[in-house]
Amino acid sequence: MQLKNKINASKLPKHVAVIMDGNGRWAKQRGKLRIFGHKNGVKAVRDTVETAAELGIKVLTLYAFSTENWNRPKIEIDMLMSLLVSSLKKELKLFLKNNISLQVIGDLNSLPQKAQNELTEVIEKTKNNSHLILNLALSYSSKDEIVNAFKNISKKIVNNELSIKEIDKNIINNHLYTRNLPNVDLMIRTSGEKRLSNFLLWQIAYAELYFTDVFWPDFNKEEFYKAIIDYQQRERRFGKTSDQLKNDE
Ligand code: IPE
Ligand code: IPE
Ligand code: MG
Repeated sequence: MQLKNKINASKLPKHVAVIMDGNGRWAKQRGKLRIFGHKNGVKAVRDTVETAAELGIKVLTLYAFSTENWNRPKIEIDMLMSLLVSSLKKELKLFLKNNISLQVIGDLNSLPQKAQNELTEVIEKTKNNSHLILNLALSYSSKDEIVNAFKNISKKIVNNELSIKEIDKNIINNHLYTRNLPNVDLMIRTSGEKRLSNFLLWQIAYAELYFTDVFWPDFNKEEFYKAIIDYQQRERRFGKTSDQLKNDE
């Protein structure tokens, strides 16, 4: 049976988040420069976005650049940023055709002006699309996001717009960059690393985690299907017992 046919359309994760890792090692294996890996990673991004749209996943968050990635050699950063700009220009057509709206999370002011302009344009042009939200994490740090939320909540308390009594999970949620998005159901990391690297710590609290040894440029439709099938075989108990879940059905 084809992998795709094993997917249960009524049990899809609403929000899938991906740590796209392993571009550098993929290139190294081929005796090429790291940027060659990043360029080939763009293809995997396109495949993943198309597959998410085809399956009917509602939100896809892709970790494209972390705040820690600013510590890489300048030449690699410059190339990643120009790859971002050229990919956005190229993929706008795909977004429009597939009814995809682009969003971004992270410290966007730290991105080069060119990248900021391109992002603003694509976000604006796709804002009414509703089939899939493609959420790009750029210059993103989960801890910075939480610090930012603390600051904004504190300001509201000082200004008497909010009382300490009112602070709950929803209030915190509503002060994160992801405020309009559902919690992550499935988190995928490629390249064999088993860590979160400062990605969506709050939002991933009850996500199913899927790790694959495949390097990001080799990630494709079939690999995505495998992750979804694996996810659908898990029992998400949220603290309950297995028997309780069966009775709830
Ligand atoms: C992921 O691949 C892409 C980014 C972090 C921008 P890497 O560049 O981290 O590749 P490895 O992990 O060094 O192989
Ligand atoms: C995480 O990958 C960030 C992105 C995929 C954008 P890294 O390659 O930067 O993470 P570490 O350094 O292995 O934790
Ligand atoms: Mg890496």
